[in-house]
Amino acid sequence: MEIDVFTLFPEWFEWFATQRHVHNVLAAGSRLECVDIRAHTPLGAGQVDDTPFGGGAGMVLRVDVMEAALRARYGVDPVELRERRRVIALTPGGRLLDDAYVSELAAEESLTLLCGRYEGFDQRIVEHFATEELSIGRYVLSGGEPAAMVVCDAVLRKLPGALGDAHSAVEESFSEALEGHPEYPHYTRPADHRGWQVPEVLLSGHHQRIAQWRLERSHERG
Ligand code: 6GU
Repeated sequence: MEIDVFTLFPEWFEWFATQRHVHNVLAAGSRLECVDIRAHTPLGAGQVDDTPFGGGAGMVLRVDVMEAALRARYGVDPVELRERRRVIALTPGGRLLDDAYVSELAAEESLTLLCGRYEGFDQRIVEHFATEELSIGRYVLSGGEPAAMVVCDAVLRKLPGALGDAHSAVEESFSEALEGHPEYPHYTRPADHRGWQVPEVLLSGHHQRIAQWRLERSHERG
């Protein structure tokens, strides 16, 4: 998997890439690279955004600036780029991210994530350069970067080698193995804390009863 993140804040992702599961998949051959949108602006003084036509608050990321950054990275007209890879604009109103969407993205060989700032993107970026818009929830973040990290985290942990125990990604919340339900509750030592007991079945060593209990608890949770 190769993920390119177009952002005005590439340094934010340095910390992110040190997370263990992210680090693991990168060590196993995946790539996560940031393209600094500002570094490619054709405008003076590092300008990347502008005031909205029609008036209103905030600043809008310019279409000519995004085009220059995409051309610098891929050497082709970004209008054609989207025929050969998914180019995802991160917007609050986009397609909601869920486990199925994450799996769909994890099956791709490469992804491009575009982070907007301030009031977002000039609409022509979304319309002509992106294959889709993605949202991590119905609330507004001041930029797409935290959302891009959410996407990278969720996608990369689906890849082989991300988690210490390959089993743990199969039977987790909302997975097919749990029939789309949230994950069952977990317990560890001590078995008794202030009289709060771990369910007896989990201490029984009876694998079939444990599996049955977990499936039931998962369904109960929604
Ligand atoms: Cl992807 N971007 C921004 N700016 N806000 C969001 C979002 C994305 N998803 C939810 N809120």
